Amino acid sequence: MKTQHLSAQNSLDIEQAQKILTSGELVAIPTETVYGLAADASNPDAVKKIFAAKGRPADHPLIVHIGRLEQLSDWARDIPQQAYTIAKAFWPGPVTLLLNKADDANTVVTGGLGTIGIRMPAHPVFSTLLEASGMAVAAPSANPYKKLSPTSAVHVINSLEGKIAAVLDGGDCHHGLESTIIDLTQTPFRVLRSGPISAKQLADVLGEEVLTPTSHSAAVPGNVTSHYQPNTRVRLVSADELSSKPELKVACLHYSAIETNDNIVSIKMPKDVAQYAHDLYRTLNDADKLGCDEIWVERPPLTEDWVAVHDRLNRAQSKL
Ligand code: TXA
Ligand code: MG
Repeated sequence: MKTQHLSAQNSLDIEQAQKILTSGELVAIPTETVYGLAADASNPDAVKKIFAAKGRPADHPLIVHIGRLEQLSDWARDIPQQAYTIAKAFWPGPVTLLLNKADDANTVVTGGLGTIGIRMPAHPVFSTLLEASGMAVAAPSANPYKKLSPTSAVHVINSLEGKIAAVLDGGDCHHGLESTIIDLTQTPFRVLRSGPISAKQLADVLGEEVLTPTSHSAAVPGNVTSHYQPNTRVRLVSADELSSKPELKVACLHYSAIETNDNIVSIKMPKDVAQYAHDLYRTLNDADKLGCDEIWVERPPLTEDWVAVHDRLNRAQSKL
């Protein structure tokens, strides 16, 4: 298949993206978190193409993206009041609500589960498309299974060219990490995946306790340990180890000052957490192309605000 390269600057291209979705084909679309691989959520055959293009197992559920709050009840039932509190505070934005699925919501999207993840994305182009079409869009991150999520159209093209109908180029993604997922199907509510909105921010607007991924052991299909991986092996190391003289040729992502030598390709990372998150996947992608034996990443600070970054780095490192 020839993948069309469309520009989000061009309204005709946005219309074309919408037409492709309506015809049951896949389009990679920018969101404020990462690029999503979109299909019409109400068309099971279209949604099946997502699993085929990514090489993703059929029991790994997808997130449904909506443009209007009224659509929530098309896809979910038994919606607690707190869902609306979160939506009011953070939508459109990078938080996904896990709810019981509506009886007629198709099970291809949910991977056969009784629950469904739903969010309203904040990217203006995606919002325009959702508003104009009235459609709900199923979209995982637009990367092959277990690989790094794409934060630019070029990342998508590099891994999915020829496998999808189109890529809509909307530049770099604002956050660079996937949305926070909060499970509202049981109390206390719990964050299943850390992301740009923290458990504390959610607890603050709800006025109730919200468990974090470290305070429970989540059994989520698709939430496998090894994930978000470049092809080159990733190792998390201390600043001291970074300054050691490695035997191998290593790309080093570091924010502290380090002594470099011939075996080290130094890649300086920002100290600000939002900027670090924004740059992380792109930098790992770039580092992957350097032909190094390993990518070493200086372990970020062990404070609460870095929890989503730690989660992704631990998965990038994991061999499980
Ligand atoms: O920021 C994001 O969330 C991006 C953009 C495109 O919206 N999407 C994204 O989707 O990261 P994906 O499929 O790459 O990751 C979604 C995660 C998966 O680990 C999946 O297993 C989990 O959410 N998930 C989705 N629906 C679920 C459900 N019903 N129950 C449990 N986990 C679910
Ligand atoms: Mg993903």
